[in-house]
Amino acid sequence: MPTEARTGGDQTPVIEFRDVEKRFGDNVVLKDLNFTVARGERVTLIGPSGSGKTTILRLVMTLEELTGGYIYVDGEPLSHEDRDGKRVPVSKSQQKRLRTRIGMVFQQFNLFPNMTVLENIIEAPVHVLGMSKRDATDKAHRLLEQVGLPDKANAHPTSLSGGQQQRVAIARALAMDPEILLLDEVTSALDPEVVGDVLEILREVAETTNVTMLIVTHEMGFARDVSHRVMMFDGGRVIEDGPPEKIFSHPEHERTQQFLSAVLRD
Ligand SMILES: Nc1ncnc2c1ncn2[C@@H]1O[C@H](COP(=O)(O)OP(=O)(O)O)[C@@H](O)[C@H]1O
Ligand SMILES: [Mg+2]
Repeated sequence: MPTEARTGGDQTPVIEFRDVEKRFGDNVVLKDLNFTVARGERVTLIGPSGSGKTTILRLVMTLEELTGGYIYVDGEPLSHEDRDGKRVPVSKSQQKRLRTRIGMVFQQFNLFPNMTVLENIIEAPVHVLGMSKRDATDKAHRLLEQVGLPDKANAHPTSLSGGQQQRVAIARALAMDPEILLLDEVTSALDPEVVGDVLEILREVAETTNVTMLIVTHEMGFARDVSHRVMMFDGGRVIEDGPPEKIFSHPEHERTQQFLSAVLRD
């Protein structure tokens, strides 16, 4: 994937959260959240249900709007910027431009049900990036090959198994050559026997590209293998942050220990 070409060698974080707050009504879900993710880094977010992991990914995907603070993508403000000490929204065009660099795969696949597999995959490359239909189609076929579904281009999502739908969703995200890939519990809705196939595809993406990944998963073996860093969340805050060997083998925080032993027991 040609991510190298657009990156250059600078040290600007690909993602930066600065004093991020997110509230739903009175419910403050994220508060004073600060972290950065470096180019090509793969970071897994772990933590109990309700700790704000999905919200973080949805904020980066601009599916939610933050209520305080700033998020930067490649150093550019994604939703709000500081202008003369005032927090003001960025232009829609800037947000749209930054969003094209970001792909997301959801727990529930979220394929467009009224479109074929091929149409699902070429939709954004054609309509958002302005790629020719022919190039997008060629690329879609290559991606379907890569995810092990070379003969499903004309199938409708409803005729596919969960594992197959998720592989299409991965192909759809990769079709945009994202600089950032967000994975939200992508195997949680799958039958156990197909989880390994989907994780294998993602491992290959991790090994063969420089795409920056933010991963939410309960698959701790996968997290340990592919991540450079693990962040443990509780109540919308990072309570522990470190390399997977450290977090999984020698967690410092009691809350992390409890969480991991509960997850690993399942
Ligand atoms: N659209 C929403 N409206 C209201 N509350 C929400 C919404 N989305 C998430 N929340 C709340 O935000 C908190 C964090 O949720 P979430 O980010 O989904 O956590 P996680 O992914 O770690 O389980 C929860 O308390 C949840 O109820
Ligand atoms: Mg979640």
